[in-house]
Amino acid sequence: MKKNIVFAIIASISLTGCGPSLRTAQEKRIDERVDSVMELMTLDEKIGQMVLYSSDWDVTGPSLKKGYMDEIRKGNCGNIFNAYTAAYTRKLQKIAVEESRLHIPLLFGYDVIHGQKTIFPISLGESASWDLAAIEKSARVSATEAAASGINWTFAPMCDISVDPRWGRVSEGAGEDPYLGSKIAAARVHGFQGDNLADSLTILACVKHFAAYGAPLAGRDYNTVDMSRRVFLDTYLPPYKAAIDAGAMSVMSSFNELDGVPATGSRYLLTDVLRDQLGFKGFVVTDYTSINEMVNHGVADNDADAGLLAIKAGVDMDMQGDVYAKYLKKSLNEGLIPMKDIYDAVHRILYVKFMLGLFDDPYRYCSESREKRELYAPEHLAAALDMAQKSMVLLKNDNKTLPLVKGEKIAVIGELANSKRDLLGSWIAAGDGNYLQSILEELKNYNGDANTIYAEGCKKMGDDRSGFAAAIAAARRADKIVLVIGESWDWSGEAASRSNIDMPGVQTELLEKLKALNKPIVVVLMNGRPLTLTKENELADAMLEAWYPGTMGGKAVTNVLFGQYNPSGKLTMTFPRNVGQIPIFYYEKNSGRPIYLKDPKYKSRYIDCPNDPLFPFGYGLSYTTFAYSDISLSTTDLTEKGELKASVNVTNTGNAAGEEVVQCYVRDLVGSITRPVKELKGFEKIALKVGESKVVTFTITPDMLAFHRLDMTYGTEPGDYKLFIGGNSRDLKETKFKLD
Ligand code: NOJ
Repeated sequence: MKKNIVFAIIASISLTGCGPSLRTAQEKRIDERVDSVMELMTLDEKIGQMVLYSSDWDVTGPSLKKGYMDEIRKGNCGNIFNAYTAAYTRKLQKIAVEESRLHIPLLFGYDVIHGQKTIFPISLGESASWDLAAIEKSARVSATEAAASGINWTFAPMCDISVDPRWGRVSEGAGEDPYLGSKIAAARVHGFQGDNLADSLTILACVKHFAAYGAPLAGRDYNTVDMSRRVFLDTYLPPYKAAIDAGAMSVMSSFNELDGVPATGSRYLLTDVLRDQLGFKGFVVTDYTSINEMVNHGVADNDADAGLLAIKAGVDMDMQGDVYAKYLKKSLNEGLIPMKDIYDAVHRILYVKFMLGLFDDPYRYCSESREKRELYAPEHLAAALDMAQKSMVLLKNDNKTLPLVKGEKIAVIGELANSKRDLLGSWIAAGDGNYLQSILEELKNYNGDANTIYAEGCKKMGDDRSGFAAAIAAARRADKIVLVIGESWDWSGEAASRSNIDMPGVQTELLEKLKALNKPIVVVLMNGRPLTLTKENELADAMLEAWYPGTMGGKAVTNVLFGQYNPSGKLTMTFPRNVGQIPIFYYEKNSGRPIYLKDPKYKSRYIDCPNDPLFPFGYGLSYTTFAYSDISLSTTDLTEKGELKASVNVTNTGNAAGEEVVQCYVRDLVGSITRPVKELKGFEKIALKVGESKVVTFTITPDMLAFHRLDMTYGTEPGDYKLFIGGNSRDLKETKFKLD
């Protein structure tokens, strides 16, 4: 097959270390300032800048460092995480800049994943909005609040693609798709960092977890990752790359191994790919004790050797492991590493401190009056409400069960309806489960006490059925039932993998009992991952995926249920029918024996379950309906330097104004290697009034069709393609074109 165009995987930057000749004039000016500080530093002080310790304000890993204040004072610790509030960070910063010998300011890192105080929906929920501006705004609000609380560095965005909902951390990402994931990664980086890191309202982003952490075998957190290099480069790498292209100045090395090498000791990942190919100019921090964990991985005999692997791979900063602090000097003295490795690492870290303006004013993030003004600012709460509404996905709505009508009698059932903490999900930074209204409270506010009857029914976990009778009695008195069920907030996030993803406890059993009453049942779901909802889908008349919607979640659910907001979210992860279908994702390959072949037996299929998922990627309903015209193409021949425009006319054919995410996919029909049956190449979220139509046009250029070919070069191949447009990855209009 004739090779077509070759694209460089990245812009042709090849910046290793801090080679001055490759720097821009502005970078050189900062380099000079960094060098002027470095000249004054002892070796110990240099190594101190490569150390990151957790304060005792929050626990996000297995160990705590005692005496970190003293280490700051001695110049042995240049960076702190898990510390916040203007007052506390000021206290620590004061030690660094007034009591340490060289007065070098601290970085303050924290997991500001979906909000600092005002908590937004979990990241997976946000991704379901497909609304890049709203996602960027969420990151911006999070940055504004974090920056007002003394934090100048967030450990976000998480850019890990995942196709395995057993993995609890899918809640922190943007789902399964590399294209959408890349757009969201860039939006988040831009939201956190803005255009100028020196602006004290913005904070440093950290791209994590580099790399391929989202693919642990069997969905078990921290487990081995094993994938082909091609899959890594074409599917898993793009969102990290997009985040780096968007200007992220720190990257976190992941816990997992890739191809037998733990990421934290992988020179391939941290230097060849990250710096040489992607042109990353910031610093690399490890994940929590991931240097030390290389001993458990079995690639180092002891911590000192693990430290050597890390520094040689390109790790600049040791999170909590105490390995660099303890062993780097010795390794240098023994000639095991060159001074240049330490110099480069410290240079990169100080460089970012300069970019943040910390050397100009180390207290720029520590203003208590600003903190008071920013936390829970009304416009932040408004943004959180907007995002929460946009994140919700209507999975089912038979007989127009939704929207509810104000004043109808509803029975609200389920522990989660009355829970506050669960609304926030995992990783809530300084979020406060008491400072919010539950779904029940908001439903009562809107629909009135008398029309809103509550019974718990059952807990979110466990097998206690003693509340069933009261729930059934409450439901009998109502016109409609709103059952809020799902997972406990701590059943997703880090270290929260599940081996089955069914609805926990006896919640589904309660749904069955309520169904027997023959009243319309609305199921509201709160969960941090796709669940297997086959049974719930059979029983419920309507089903709304609310994720963990954040501080304003109660109101957002109420607004959606009562049609104050017409749901517009679309799934960014496939929902399987059962756990045996996992891993499951829409961009699968066709295989040699695809299911549509006539032969009844020898096909790639299950004998006990269909191949297709319960809800496909990109799926989500609205209270209105949308009709798609056939696709029209500007040309059916895409030339090397040309472009192709594919258009559809979308019409709102229902009775409510609504928004639709119009999605464009392609399939490369014949390649030198097998190609996915569909790949997302564009999307646009449009708003349509009743009866209104809009033409949506996608532009396809050859570079969008590039991949790693048989010989691992990156480029396109000529041939026939299919192009699809529609409202989800399954129900699509289809046409063909040719790439010359
Ligand atoms: C471990 C997690 O994997 C990572 O995402 C987080 O940023 C660090 N702990 C710090 O809390």
